[in-house]
Amino acid sequence: MNSTPHIAVVGATGAVGIEMITTLERRRFPVGKLTLLASARSAGKKLKFNGSDVAVTALTKDSFAGIDIALFSAGGGISKEFAPIAAAAGCVVIDNSSAFRMDEQVPLVIPEINAGDVKNHHGIIANPNCTTAVTLMALYPLHEAFGVKRVFASSYQAVSGAGAKAIEELERQVGEVVQGRPVTRDVHPHQIAFNVLPQIDSFLPNGYTKEEMKMEDEGRKIMHHPSFRASVTCVRVPVYRAHSVAVSAEFERPVTVEAARKVLKHAPGLDLVDHPERKEYPMPLDIAGKDNCAVGRLRQDCAMDNGLCFWVVGDQLLKGAALNAVQIAEVLVGRWGTGNGG
Ligand SMILES: NC(=O)c1ccc[n+]([C@@H]2O[C@H](COP(=O)([O-])OP(=O)(O)OC[C@H]3O[C@@H](n4cnc5c(N)ncnc54)[C@H](OP(=O)(O)O)[C@@H]3O)[C@@H](O)[C@H]2O)c1
Repeated sequence: MNSTPHIAVVGATGAVGIEMITTLERRRFPVGKLTLLASARSAGKKLKFNGSDVAVTALTKDSFAGIDIALFSAGGGISKEFAPIAAAAGCVVIDNSSAFRMDEQVPLVIPEINAGDVKNHHGIIANPNCTTAVTLMALYPLHEAFGVKRVFASSYQAVSGAGAKAIEELERQVGEVVQGRPVTRDVHPHQIAFNVLPQIDSFLPNGYTKEEMKMEDEGRKIMHHPSFRASVTCVRVPVYRAHSVAVSAEFERPVTVEAARKVLKHAPGLDLVDHPERKEYPMPLDIAGKDNCAVGRLRQDCAMDNGLCFWVVGDQLLKGAALNAVQIAEVLVGRWGTGNGG
């Protein structure tokens, strides 16, 4: 891989795409050249990178000549159509959608957990689901220490997880409710302002949603743990940014709060914020915009043996999307673990 690669961001104008551009800049990724791609609607729009204006161009089948790494965040349909075209043109795709995550030929990577899987790619590498990524940042170090068997979890997912239009919808609906006007809706299945929605993505025959099954499916692949089980309820909450997850985990070996704290204190990409006596625990307002996820509310699970409860929060636009994708690119160019990357 070229040490100063030509990078393309596909979906550059979206909630994740914008974060990809700022993350590349903030982490001083050695970008040789930056190409910004979106729909024809955005062609000509200018976005700032390292102080310069970069014009957005419309994505076409010919967009990938000369590009080394393409960071895709324009939805599953676009990934399915264009990622194979990009890979065939010789570029490595890092894809944020769910299109290829469970494909055996495609590594699914959280660099703090399985950076070594990157080398097995055949042109496409997948970024995990955002709630899964945030949860595994705390769960995997505990798994290494105590051997996780299964988790029961509920998520509290920010509206930005559904894209830029969902952020606008919450803002607009809050104004409509406060001013006593009728609430208008186009992204979420119900009013999200002053409400919580126990549905993210569509329902499967087993009664779970697609989003809920990702924790088990993707968790098994990322942790190389084929018997891992996860029963999850995913909930959209009227928070702009950062997902929270309440987890009860059952382990093979006995776990104490003290032993878990020791493990989590040294876990990469994770802060331990756990001082209940001072009312200190992770909250989305504090974690939004930060690279590290944070874990707190550690306690022995009172309803199962070898069980631990915890509360983990992470900026899903960063660790759940843009940051993780840029970290994978850092692995590709050999910056991961050198002090210049993670
Ligand atoms: N939001 C999150 O927290 C999150 C986390 C993990 C993964 N993801 C995944 O990342 C992807 C993008 O999510 P997002 O939240 O950033 O969505 P978004 O804010 O709605 O942005 C979508 C982006 O895709 C572009 N796009 C749409 N149609 C296109 C087309 N026909 N050709 C080229 N570009 C097109 C849009 O360009 P225009 O502006 O020109 O329409 C925009 O840049 C999705 O697959 C999502 O599942 C999102």
